[in-house]
Amino acid sequence: MPPVSEEVIKQYKSLISELNSHNHHYHVLDDPKISDAEYDLLLRDLIKLEQQYPSIFDINSPSQRVGAPPLEAFEQIEHIVPMLSLDNAFNDVELQNFETRVLDRLKISTPIEYACEPKLDGVAVSLRYSNGELKSAVTRGDGSFGEDVTVNVKTIGSVPLRLIGDEVPEFLDVRGEIFMSKVAFKTLNEKAAQTGEKIFVNPRNAAAGSLRQLDSKVTASRPLDIRIYSVGKISPSVALETHSSMLNLLSRFGFKVSRKIKVVKGIEGCISYYESLANERNKLPYDIDGIVFKVNNFELQEQLGFVSKAPRWAIARKFPAEEISTILKDVEFQVGRTGAVTPVGRLEPVFVGGVTISNVSLHNRDEIERLQIRIGDTVIVKRAGDVIPQIVKVVTSKRDEKAQLIKFPRYCPVCNSELEVSSSQAIIRCIAGVSCEAQLKESIKHYASRKALNIDGLGSSLVDNLVDKGMLTSIVDLYDLDVNSISSLEGMGQRSSQNLVSAIEKSKSTTLPKFLYGLGIREVGEATAKSLANEFVNIDKIMTATIEEYLCVHDIGDVTAENIVSFFDRISNRKLINQLQAKGVRWDENQRYNYSSDNLTLVGQVWVITGSLDSMTRSELSDKLEALGAKVGSSVSKNVDILVVGSNPGSKLKKAETLGIRVVSENELSEFL
Ligand code: IVH
Repeated sequence: MPPVSEEVIKQYKSLISELNSHNHHYHVLDDPKISDAEYDLLLRDLIKLEQQYPSIFDINSPSQRVGAPPLEAFEQIEHIVPMLSLDNAFNDVELQNFETRVLDRLKISTPIEYACEPKLDGVAVSLRYSNGELKSAVTRGDGSFGEDVTVNVKTIGSVPLRLIGDEVPEFLDVRGEIFMSKVAFKTLNEKAAQTGEKIFVNPRNAAAGSLRQLDSKVTASRPLDIRIYSVGKISPSVALETHSSMLNLLSRFGFKVSRKIKVVKGIEGCISYYESLANERNKLPYDIDGIVFKVNNFELQEQLGFVSKAPRWAIARKFPAEEISTILKDVEFQVGRTGAVTPVGRLEPVFVGGVTISNVSLHNRDEIERLQIRIGDTVIVKRAGDVIPQIVKVVTSKRDEKAQLIKFPRYCPVCNSELEVSSSQAIIRCIAGVSCEAQLKESIKHYASRKALNIDGLGSSLVDNLVDKGMLTSIVDLYDLDVNSISSLEGMGQRSSQNLVSAIEKSKSTTLPKFLYGLGIREVGEATAKSLANEFVNIDKIMTATIEEYLCVHDIGDVTAENIVSFFDRISNRKLINQLQAKGVRWDENQRYNYSSDNLTLVGQVWVITGSLDSMTRSELSDKLEALGAKVGSSVSKNVDILVVGSNPGSKLKKAETLGIRVVSENELSEFL
C-alpha cells in the first residue's frame, strides 16, 4: 500500500469539505454554487484518491452518497429516546379543546406561543451524530426499536454527513421526515411503467419503499428528501428556550428544516395558519396530511409532559379525508376464516386519497341499514392516509329507480350450506368450518402466516390454487406436498417448489403459542396464545381445560373463553391437532414466553369504554384491549389514559374532557386495533 503523505490527507480532507459544502448549497439551500458537471469532477477526484490510498477512506465520505454494498437484512436498533406519535384533532373545536387542556394544566389564562409546521407525509427517522459525524439513521419502527437504514440515508443529498461549524455538539439525535416530492414520484412511476417495474400508489409508499432497500444503490437512484422537525437528544444541552430557536440552530448545523414554520400566538393563530396552508396544500411540491402545532416554549413543554405515547404539548390537525363520489355496481358476499359472511361493495373504480379504490367492505347488515344503500346508488367514498376505504353516505337524490335492494344470502355463497344469523341479526356466518372451501383457504393462509407457522413462499394465490386443484383438503395435507406435485402448478418452478417443501418442513419445529395462534381460534391472538401456553404448558391440558380455568388466565374474558371451549369441543379440531403432531409438528414444552412489546402495546395503560359500540360489544372490546396489555376500568379518573366513546356517551365523556384525558372514537379505535 503506498504511504500516505500529509499532503494527500490535506487534499482529501479539503475535497470532502468542498463537496459537503456544495452538497449543502444544492440540496439544503437550493442555491447551487457550481454546475453538476463540476461537482462530478470533484467527486471523481475524491474517488480516485480513495482508490489510490484506501487507508485514508472516511466512512462519511461524499462518495458514499452513491450507495454501499447490499445488506442481507436491516438490523434493529434501540432509540436513545423513544420516537413518539402525535394526538390528532379533526376540527377547530378539537383544537380549542387542546388549548384548554394545555392552559388548564399550566394554570395559565393568557394565550401562549405555538410553532406551526406542515405535517409531511413520509417516513420518520432518527439521525444520530457523534462529534458532528453521522453515525446512524434509524426508522421509527415501534417507537422503541427501529431499523438501521444508515447506508441508505447517506445517499439522501439533504442529509448532512457531517455537521457544519466548529461548535457541533458531542452528541445529537434529530428526528425528521423522509419523503419524495410529488414531481419525483410521478417521474419515478412513469419510468417504472416503461420498464415494467413496481408502480407505487402514492409518494409516501414510494419514499418508504425506496428507503427500505437492502441495496442502497437503489435508494441512491430515488430522489428522496428530508425535513428535520425535532431533537431527541443533544449533549451537552444548549441554553435555548424555544422549539423554533432549536430548529434555527439545527438549520445552522446544515439540516433542512421546513421554510413554512411559523410561530403564532394562541389557538386562533393556529387556526388561521391551518386555513392558509390548507388553501396552499395542492400547490405544495410535497404531500402533507395535516399541520403540527407545538407549544413553543421548552419549559412549558416539560411541565406538560406526555400521555401514553404522545406529548401533551403538541397536536396534529389532520386535513379532512378526501371524499369522492362513485357508483356501487354490485354487492358480493365474502366468507372469512371464521365463517363470517361480509358484504363487499364493487365500485366503479375511483382515485381517492392517493389510491384507486374498487372494493369496499360494507361490514354487516347494520351498516347497510345505516347507509340505506342500494345497488346502483351514487355513493361518497373516503380514504385518509393508510386507512381502509369506506362509504360515507349515499346520494339519495341521485338514486335511479332501477337501484336494487341488497339481499342477504340464506346459503353460503361458497359451500351452499345454510347460514347462521346472530341473535342481533347483524352477523351471518357459515358454520360449515373447513369443509367450506373459503374457510379452508383462509385457515391455511392463517396457519402459514408469519406470526403463526411462518411458511415462507406459501402466498395467498398459491393456497387458493392448491385448494382449487384438490391438493390441499386440510392443513395437514401441507405436510404431504412434494416437489413434483407443487411444480406441476403454473408458475411454480422446480426451485421454488423445493424451497416451499423445505419451508414446510422447517415449520414443523415451532413454539406452542405460534401453533395455538395458527389454529385460528376466534379471539385468540398472539398475546392470548402466549398466555395459554404459559398457564397450561401442554396442549392436552389446553384442549381439556374448563371455561373457569380459561377465565383464570390473565387476559382471557368470557367471549374468548367460550370461543376456546367451542373450538376444542369439535372433534374435527382435536383430530387436526393430533394429525399435525403425528406429522412431526413439535415445540419445546419447557419454554416460557415473554409478552413482547409488539403485542402488548397497551401495557400500563388504563382504558375506559362509554356509549354503545357498532362493531362489537363492550365486552369483546374489553377482551381485545386486555389482550393487548391494557387494564379496562369502569369509571373515569385522572389515572385513566384513554376513553373510547361509542354513540350516546354519558357523563364519562364530559369528565374525561375536563381531566384532559385522551378520547378516541370507535372509528379511530378500529383503525388502531
Ligand atoms: S413531531 C413528539 N413534527 O407525524 C413529537 N411530526 O404522528 C412527534 N411528522 O411519526 C413528532 N411532520 O413522522 C412532528 N413537523 C412534524 C412532523 C411530524 C411529520 C410525522 C412524524 C411522526 C408522525 C406523528
